[in-house]
Amino acid sequence: MADNFFITTAIDYTNGAPHIGHAYEKVLADVIARYHRLKGESVFYLTGVDQHGQKVQQSAEKQGIEPQKFVDGLTEKFVALWDKLDVRYERWAATTDASHKQCVRAILQRLWDEKDATGQSRWLYKTKQGGWYSVRQEQFLTDKERGEDGEFGPEWGEVEFREEENYYFRLTEHRDWLLVLLESRPELVTPDFRRGELRNAVEKLSGDLCISRPKSRLAWGIELPFDPEFVTFVWFDALVNYISFAPGYDPAPGADLSEFNAWWPALHVIGKDILIPAHGVYWPIMLKALGFSDADIPILLVHGWWNIGGTKMSKTLGNVVDPDALADKYGAEALRYYLMSDITTGRDADFSDDRLITRFNSDLAKNLGNLLNRSLNMAHKYRGGVLKKTTAPELLLTTRDALNFETVVELYRSQFDGCAVNLALETALLHATACNQFIDLQKPWTVAKHPDLADRLDAILYQLAESLRFIAILLSPIVPKAARGIFDQLGVTGEFGLGDAKWGALPDGHRVGTPVPLFPQIERPEGE
Ligand code: ME8
Ligand code: MG
Repeated sequence: MADNFFITTAIDYTNGAPHIGHAYEKVLADVIARYHRLKGESVFYLTGVDQHGQKVQQSAEKQGIEPQKFVDGLTEKFVALWDKLDVRYERWAATTDASHKQCVRAILQRLWDEKDATGQSRWLYKTKQGGWYSVRQEQFLTDKERGEDGEFGPEWGEVEFREEENYYFRLTEHRDWLLVLLESRPELVTPDFRRGELRNAVEKLSGDLCISRPKSRLAWGIELPFDPEFVTFVWFDALVNYISFAPGYDPAPGADLSEFNAWWPALHVIGKDILIPAHGVYWPIMLKALGFSDADIPILLVHGWWNIGGTKMSKTLGNVVDPDALADKYGAEALRYYLMSDITTGRDADFSDDRLITRFNSDLAKNLGNLLNRSLNMAHKYRGGVLKKTTAPELLLTTRDALNFETVVELYRSQFDGCAVNLALETALLHATACNQFIDLQKPWTVAKHPDLADRLDAILYQLAESLRFIAILLSPIVPKAARGIFDQLGVTGEFGLGDAKWGALPDGHRVGTPVPLFPQIERPEGE
């Protein structure tokens, strides 16, 4: 039976149009999902939108429309963009879906009903608290959030004192459990330095999570099943999407979870800002409360952020990058390629059109595009497009690592399995660089002049065609259309997998297609 791979992204707030950070994360998860499909695994990629909460309610009010109408309009933009960017997912999670709301309510009821010896809920309690509340972040603030000057920083927006009765989810009593878990399962958080940050935060953990909002100030949410005066805090609602939309999850105690367990635990792809506390603290404890074992706490791949000229992208600064416009301008594949190549997975990077153009032109147009073009042209010029199969390439050709399929694939796999997508991509393109150097060294145009070197010329042409087929397979998770384009030009049809990335698939007498420029250079605007 094929392995199952379950991957999710954060669900994006439908409080504004999708930005480049959203696109990066959806493409990153798409690329990892496609890599697992390439390996022959069954993949379930879940992504979607986070539609409840204060910010949505406020924005809808401002526009004078119903919140549902407001989020539906924005949701359409997300769906259309993922389609444009070839982000291929198995299920769409929208938190206003009836099935999701029902699941959140069933979970809350279950936690409420689970009593301890004194007859109190083991997980939830109701109490009155007063405190400083950030309207923008929809949360009460503690002294931890105060800056050095004792004030709450501008990132919290308007802060006001509030006293309120609410429902709380117990966190603090699970602190030691979480610390031991992080110690015993170091693979839970990638990259490593983020795990360190999480451990530090957990050590300082104090206080429980307020999971309700009185309807008087927030109506746009999921009503608590045991108290109609309240709706569910947006994070408690949103995190549940990972199971409410998963195959076969049922929150009823003792339900048959065999289908669900065939997929779980998931790999959650998230940005650095939502590790602490949401995904690193709330979520594991929520799952523990629902009876998940330590081995079933999901893995977090924490990516960095795209900044603009070293500063954060923000609506206030007016520097938000629109991925939809970029895809129209440069093409979806150019954007996918840039987003995967010009950032170290886990670290931040600076976004610029200029870097996008530079990387596309040098890596795809020049390096790979030229290789494709010259290889096929030579095959046509010297052999009428017909290849002769070579059995022992390394004897004649080279033993360089970057040209050896087995070495390259092994490295590529280890990089991809470690979610170092930019490195895996680099490995594939280094093979193209090595092929171009190989052409320059072998000088097929000279070899062609010597009839006694006919075998060598055949071997060179076969090596190049095989290498192009090989590179297309390795690049297919990142630029699926271009990979298909290379296959078409090579005259290869049908599906392929990572198992096909080995020497010798092109048969003797194979006829290659006509070269067509696959990556035309992107012209820089005048004056740049
Ligand atoms: O946080 N670069 O939604 P969101 C890279 N609804 N990634 C970025 C980014 C940037 N400049 N800006 C944002 C939420 N992101 C919640 C998630 S999950 C149960 C609920 C990433 O729309 C961010 O880190 O604010 C997050 O992973 C994702 O975009 C959605 O952000
Ligand atoms: Mg955010």
